[in-house]
Amino acid sequence: MPRDCDLRLTNLDLIDDDHEQLLHTLQDLAYGDVMARAGMDRLIAQVVEHFDHEMPHLERIGGDLKTRHLGAHALFLDRLTAIRDRCEYEPARARAELAEVTARFISHTNTDDLEIAEALKALAPVEARPAVTLDDILL
Ligand SMILES: [Fe+2]
Ligand SMILES: [Fe+2]
Repeated sequence: MPRDCDLRLTNLDLIDDDHEQLLHTLQDLAYGDVMARAGMDRLIAQVVEHFDHEMPHLERIGGDLKTRHLGAHALFLDRLTAIRDRCEYEPARARAELAEVTARFISHTNTDDLEIAEALKALAPVEARPAVTLDDILL
């Protein structure tokens, strides 16, 4: 898996920073030498903090997007919790599942989280948008 795939897609610095750090943590655990419960606990805390960072944006957007997005976050945390609970007695299985979750995480950042950024742009106040002149339309 490419170590440095581009996760700076939302143009929301805190969210993009979180995504980069989370990918490194996920890969360190999935492909590292040690699969320990303490490492999974740290990962889960990091994920919860990241989801908290996305929450104000989701609250602002609301509707179906918020409901779907929170559902995806809940499933993600369920998977990580299950992996944490078996990681010390089934490390090979936990590692394989964490690699799968890592791929799902990248997909989430590239689709669902991008949808947040697009929805926020659509909510931007009309007055903050550049004025369109007749020349813009005719050229
Ligand atoms: Fe995210
Ligand atoms: Fe998200």
